[in-house]
Amino acid sequence: MAIINSKLIGIGSYVPDFVLTNDMLEQLVDTNDEWIVKRTGIRERHIAKGMRTWELGFKAAERALQNAGITADKLDMIIVTTCSPDFYSPIEASVIQEKLGAKCAAMDLNTCCSGFVYASDVADSFIKCGKAKTVLVISAETLSRVTDYTDRGTCVLLGDGAGAVVYAATEETDKGILSSYTSSDGSGAEYLYMEALPLEEDPLKADRSYDQSKRFLKMAGAPVVRFTAWAVPQAIDEALHRAGLEASDIDWVVPHQANLRILDVIAKKYNLPMEKIYVNLDRFGNTSSASIPLALDEMRQKGMLHEGQTIVCTGFGGGLTFGAFVIKL
Ligand code: UT7
Repeated sequence: MAIINSKLIGIGSYVPDFVLTNDMLEQLVDTNDEWIVKRTGIRERHIAKGMRTWELGFKAAERALQNAGITADKLDMIIVTTCSPDFYSPIEASVIQEKLGAKCAAMDLNTCCSGFVYASDVADSFIKCGKAKTVLVISAETLSRVTDYTDRGTCVLLGDGAGAVVYAATEETDKGILSSYTSSDGSGAEYLYMEALPLEEDPLKADRSYDQSKRFLKMAGAPVVRFTAWAVPQAIDEALHRAGLEASDIDWVVPHQANLRILDVIAKKYNLPMEKIYVNLDRFGNTSSASIPLALDEMRQKGMLHEGQTIVCTGFGGGLTFGAFVIKL
């Protein structure tokens, strides 16, 4: 039987127009541009005003399909990753499927900031086992809706945006997703969380005037940084090992854009020049699961992606989940 791989055939992205700069944040919380740039590398982020998560995802998806040169009726599956969904039902993927005019399986997947890595693994698995030929992965987030703009420890980090990719079955053995590794360390769950539904001692007698601020993202930054210090190298090592590759084979690392200091650690550990780690968090902040496909699309638009390149994507975040995959263009 012929080997089937999942080739990246299209990339697209969308960010809302409004730009929230560090100077603007100085008006909201006790912070300053110097602290934010020095501790995170972030200078500005895009914020969705009056736009839902699915709308961002839909626009990114349209662009990815256009870039792939295919129409939505060719899709066998749509996976949307988000930790800032509009609804519990309908799921984002079904809403976007309808807007695109696709007739296929649709699912949402939430592993927080590592969502794109997990969804790419799921897409690859469906393609490799022959259950799907073409899969659209959309990662869309409106983190501004779960951000506490009185908490300087988190509000300076987060932004909104969406990225999407199309994977298609190929019999070319040297192309596509070569390996994936996904994992989780639930012992760190408390360091990064957002409550979805309030716990009620007696739902029949509950006071349903729910304090919306309970939904806000809460993070203990330092333990999360400590987690990334072992989890990200573990994920990259495993993905490289499974692909039979060495760090020296990597053309690009496209990491989740959380903090420039974390990306520095990756560069040092793998003896890679910072020029091989794609960074755009200075202009977008941390957009959770959207950050990797958003970065990939920017690289595409800048003409930085070429056939034959080996790219490692790595994601990490709430859960605490983490993972990486190796893809050959
Ligand atoms: O996307 C999912 C994964 N997320 C991440 O990977 C994020 C991981 N965490 C981080 O990137 C960093 O921990 C932060 C950027 C969130 C914080 O950086 P840090 O170097 O760990 O700072 P810290 O939390 O240890 O705080 C140092 C000081 C504190 O003041 P004191 O107690 O030393 O007086 C904070 O209150 O910096 C203060 N601080 C700020 N000062 C000005 C915290 N946030 C701010 C702020 N502006 N925005």
